[in-house]
Amino acid sequence: MEPGFDVVTGAFSFTGRAIAQRLISEERRVRTLTNHPQRPGSEEIKVDVAPLQFADRAALVDSLRGADTLYNTYWVRFRHGKLSFGDAIANTRILVGAAAEAGVRKIVHISVSNPSIDSHLDYYAGKARTEEIVRTSGLRWAIVRPTLVFGAGDILLNNIAWLLRRMPIFVVPGLGTYRVQPVAIEDVAEIATWAAQQSDDMTIDAAGPDTVTYSELVEGIAIAVGRRPRFVYMPPGLTLLAGNIVGAYVHDVMLTRQELEGLMEELLVSNEKPRGTRRIDNWLLTSADTLGRTYASELDRHWRPTAKA
Ligand SMILES: NC(=O)c1ccc[n+]([C@@H]2O[C@H](COP(=O)([O-])OP(=O)(O)OC[C@H]3O[C@@H](n4cnc5c(N)ncnc54)[C@H](OP(=O)(O)O)[C@@H]3O)[C@@H](O)[C@H]2O)c1
Repeated sequence: MEPGFDVVTGAFSFTGRAIAQRLISEERRVRTLTNHPQRPGSEEIKVDVAPLQFADRAALVDSLRGADTLYNTYWVRFRHGKLSFGDAIANTRILVGAAAEAGVRKIVHISVSNPSIDSHLDYYAGKARTEEIVRTSGLRWAIVRPTLVFGAGDILLNNIAWLLRRMPIFVVPGLGTYRVQPVAIEDVAEIATWAAQQSDDMTIDAAGPDTVTYSELVEGIAIAVGRRPRFVYMPPGLTLLAGNIVGAYVHDVMLTRQELEGLMEELLVSNEKPRGTRRIDNWLLTSADTLGRTYASELDRHWRPTAKA
């Protein structure tokens, strides 16, 4: 490709797709790094494709040479098989180092709200470590920290809707009074591409305009999909057990302890003025017909090499 293009990891998945679409709408040329070039819907995203791999550094540097901005969405949702959060940190170090060697102008790194090196949750501690890698890379940088992201192709909210459509009861961990502040995937993409154009390095949250309790969020989804299940409030451990039973049925990891604790500790709430403007209620209304019709499997999407999900 002629120099001056942008590189986005995972343009055929969730956040990367929205960022790539946003860049294409701004007439930017885009290359994606991915291991799933054949994922359904990939033909709709007109991008150049190269592998997202960390073993061949020279090839990785080559795929980044001539790029203006690297939008990095790479991370793993949970430890699984041989892949740990430590591996994901090491892979991030390789990717960011390759971007610096290739002479990329800037990296926009997608993190998460409220990461902390001292967190007892590896997900959040690991994210804080990847942020340090970005800040000390020698590149210009922006770190964008989304809360809970909603939009086409999401997994967590889709699967809540999937459960609501099928089950007569819905298990809520604890009292359901802890808050979340969902943000639209299109807002995350806008914030990320805006950050790329700023002259200062920055760390900013990507959060939506509404803060709701978890119970309100689930009730909103239930109304959207036209179901009125009985809500059963259970201790977090029993909720996880219920999630594991459903997970075994669908051959997936539905919910992890880290995700549950992060949710209940209100880590998916921002302390900054919201930058996102799109409201989750509007999205629920417009996506009610499709939301939760089919289960979205994280393991199919990322861990099973032959799967095309
Ligand atoms: N989704 C949310 O609600 C949310 C909230 C806050 C923060 N975030 C952050 O936003 C970023 C993007 O999240 P996302 O949900 O949009 O992720 P995603 O699209 O599912 O995946 C992002 C990238 O990571 C790669 N990847 C994911 N799991 C992998 C695995 N097990 N092995 C190898 N590669 C893997 C994907 O590879 P392929 O291209 O091959 O698919 C893709 O390039 C992440 O850093 C996440 O922590 C997400």
